[in-house]
Formats: sequence, structure tokens, C-alpha cells
Amino acid sequence: MPDTARSTANTLEPYFMPFTANRQFKSAPRMIVSAAGMHYTTDDGRRLLDGSAGMWCVNAGHGRERIVRAIREQAAAMDYAPAFQCGHPGAFELAGRLAALMPGSLDHAFFCNSGSEAVDTALKIALAYHRQNGEATRTRLVGRERGYHGVGFGGTAVGGMANNRKQFGNLLAGVDHLRHTHDLGEMAFSRGHPAWGAHLADDLERLCGLHDASTIAAVIVEPVAGSTGVLVPPEGYLARIRELCDRHGILLIFDEVITGFGRVGAAFAAERFGVEPDMITMAKGLTNATVPMSAVGVSKGVYDTLMAGPAGVELFHGYTYSGHPLACAAGLATLEVYAEEGLFERARALAPVWEDALHGLRGRRNVIDIRNIGLMGAVEMAPRPGEAGARGFAVYLECFDSGLIARQTGDTIALSPPLIITEDQIGELADILGAAIDAVD
Ligand SMILES: Cc1ncc(COP(=O)(O)O)c(C=O)c1O
Repeated sequence: MPDTARSTANTLEPYFMPFTANRQFKSAPRMIVSAAGMHYTTDDGRRLLDGSAGMWCVNAGHGRERIVRAIREQAAAMDYAPAFQCGHPGAFELAGRLAALMPGSLDHAFFCNSGSEAVDTALKIALAYHRQNGEATRTRLVGRERGYHGVGFGGTAVGGMANNRKQFGNLLAGVDHLRHTHDLGEMAFSRGHPAWGAHLADDLERLCGLHDASTIAAVIVEPVAGSTGVLVPPEGYLARIRELCDRHGILLIFDEVITGFGRVGAAFAAERFGVEPDMITMAKGLTNATVPMSAVGVSKGVYDTLMAGPAGVELFHGYTYSGHPLACAAGLATLEVYAEEGLFERARALAPVWEDALHGLRGRRNVIDIRNIGLMGAVEMAPRPGEAGARGFAVYLECFDSGLIARQTGDTIALSPPLIITEDQIGELADILGAAIDAVD
């Protein structure tokens, strides 16, 4: 190898890291080299408890032999099949399994490769549906403040995080937002659904008044906002959004990229919360994060409407890797693991233990809120004056040094362990986090 090539390969510099403070990381790298079960191992041989299932995605724990085997066998049998005007059995089988898993009339799956792609796909399906339905004026998309829907132009536009939007100009035109549902004064330290806040859903009525419902195609919300710190929906809030969508002919999309596949103690939050959307976006836990894959679950009504269009291609949309054979094999094996080990039920059964462990951190230094639902949760700390996010990042680093990987968002530490976590490990996680919080000023 020429010297220049070797020296480049040995430096951290060429990798432009995503959503990362590149300069900070490269000055003090946190390098992970292997993973098994509930743990990661760092390049210096330290074991870290995985408090975040990777990034909300490794729901069955790391290195699951059955999933690894399925991917290996599929790669040997057929690495790739054209996704357009051709099919392979795995994609149809996985779509069928997802149709059986999704609630109510959601019975079709469109495959993509990331949560971001699933979101943009769902938004485009909503637009195409209304056009086909004779309501081409319905082009407006409604998201929510503090929503995260990935990083495509559509997802960024309907998302409600200032940092994710401010560098990118106007994004999409014709987008509006509901207010977020988080109010510390009204709901701090709620266990599960806050009792206050269902009325915030009436924002949708206000937007219908402002823009006229005939211009609105879809509302997209995360049933539990994950990336902005596990904001659990107020009791009755999602049902009210559904009611208003029905009243005004608006499609409802649940972005379940995080909440899908057992995170809240059921296959989907839609099932757990008893509110059925017209589409569900899913990713992450779909393949236990082994092979990138996402999907849009589509209701029979939406699918049938699109199928009633002119002969030929019904939706001019798709990806080279839609329904990639390796991803389908991984997805099928993952769903088998979830079912055989009863991991969704396990998450539900462990939720009270999880809730008690997290709320046991109340009273720790600077803690101003604790939130939880299923096996997800968050501990929020007061920001340092004039330094929003600095305390959260310091606690994240302290956790990493003390043997726990968590997620940091602002001054909130978000948690979502693999669903195989034991009660002892829940205790360990809370102990490490509590000590880290106390160690940071
Ligand atoms: C709710 C939600 N939607 C969409 C996405 C984007 O997924 P991806 O990073 O796979 O594009 C995420 C990622 O965290 C998410 O949490």
C-alpha cells in the first residue's frame, strides 16, 4: 500500500460523521468494535450495557444467531433481485407477515431502506391517494413541533426540530405543524400517559380553519415522540387526532420507526394505544437493525384507491433496494425471534419494573422530569444557563465512561434497551445513569 493510502486509512479524518460533533469525536473517539446480547465492547476492551438498543433498533439484542444465519444463507442463494417489475418470494412473505402484524385494515407493505425513506414514501402515497380520489387540492402536509421524521426533504419539513431545519432553507412549501404536547408545568414526572393535554389535538381543527381542510392531505405524528426525548402522548390525544382526521378527510400517518416492534409492549403503538392510522412507517426493529430496511404499512382503503387508477404502474415511486433479499431474510428471521421469544409481551411485562427504576432517579442532581412508556424512557435535566445541551452531553459521556450507552438529546437522556433486558440489568442501567447524573454539575 502506498504511504499516502495507508496514512489516510489510519486517520479518522476522511469520515464525515452523521449527526455527530465531528471535531469533538475525532479529538476523543468512542470506538465500538463488537456486540453480543445486551452489550457492546469498545476498542479498549470495555463492556458497555446497551441502554438504547443501538439507536432504538436492536430490539432482540445483538448478534442473534438465527438472524445472522438467515442473512448468510440468503446472500449465498441470491444476493439481489431487481425490485421493479420483478419479485422474489421473501418480499411477498415479509409483506404478508407485516400485514398480519399490523392492526385493523392496514394490510399492505411498501418497502424502503430507512426511516427517512419510509416517511417520504408515506407522504407521497398520501398525495397520490388524494389525487386519485379526485381531491388533488389536498397537498398540504401537517407535522408537529418536536417531531422527528428523518432527514429527507419531506421528513425534515414535517419534522419539528429547529436544528434539523435551520441549515436547509425553505424545505417543502405547504407544510404546517401542530404544537408539541410537552409541558413540564402540567406533566412533569408523569408515569405513562400524562393526564393533561388531549386538547392540544384541537390544533388540527385550528389548522383546518386556517388553511381549509380541502387543502390538507395528511397529518404525520410519532405516537411517542422519540428523538426529542420520549414525549408520551397525553391520554386521549391520539384518538382525538384520529377523530379530526376522519371528520375532515385527512389521512393519518403514524411514524412508528421507533415505537414499532415491541418498544411500547405491542407490535405497534397503534395497537397498544387503540388508534388506527391510515399508514404506519416502520424501520429499525424490522430487521433488528442488521440490514437496513423500512416499510410503509398501508391501509386497504388507500391501497385499493391507488389500484383503481389507470392501468400500468400505480405509484411512480420505489428504490433499487426496495425489498432487498438480504433485508427480507433478516426481517423474516427477526419477526420469528420476536414471536418465539414473546419479546413484545416481555416488554409489556417489564414496563412496570422499568418505570419504577427510572422514576427512582427523581430527586437526583438537576433532574426536572422523568418520562416512560413500555420499554422507553427519558430523564431530563435542567440546562446549564446559556448552554443548552451541554449538561446532557456531559452525562452521556460520563455514562459511556462508566459502562452504559444511552442517547442524548439536548439535556435529556433517552433510553430504550433491547427487549431482552433483565430486571437486574434494568437496575444496573439506572444505577450507572444515576451516578453519572450526580457526577456532572
Ligand atoms: C420516528 C422516526 N422517523 C424516522 C426516522 C428516520 O430513520 P432513518 O434514520 O432510518 O432514516 C427516525 C430515526 O430515528 C425516527 O425516530
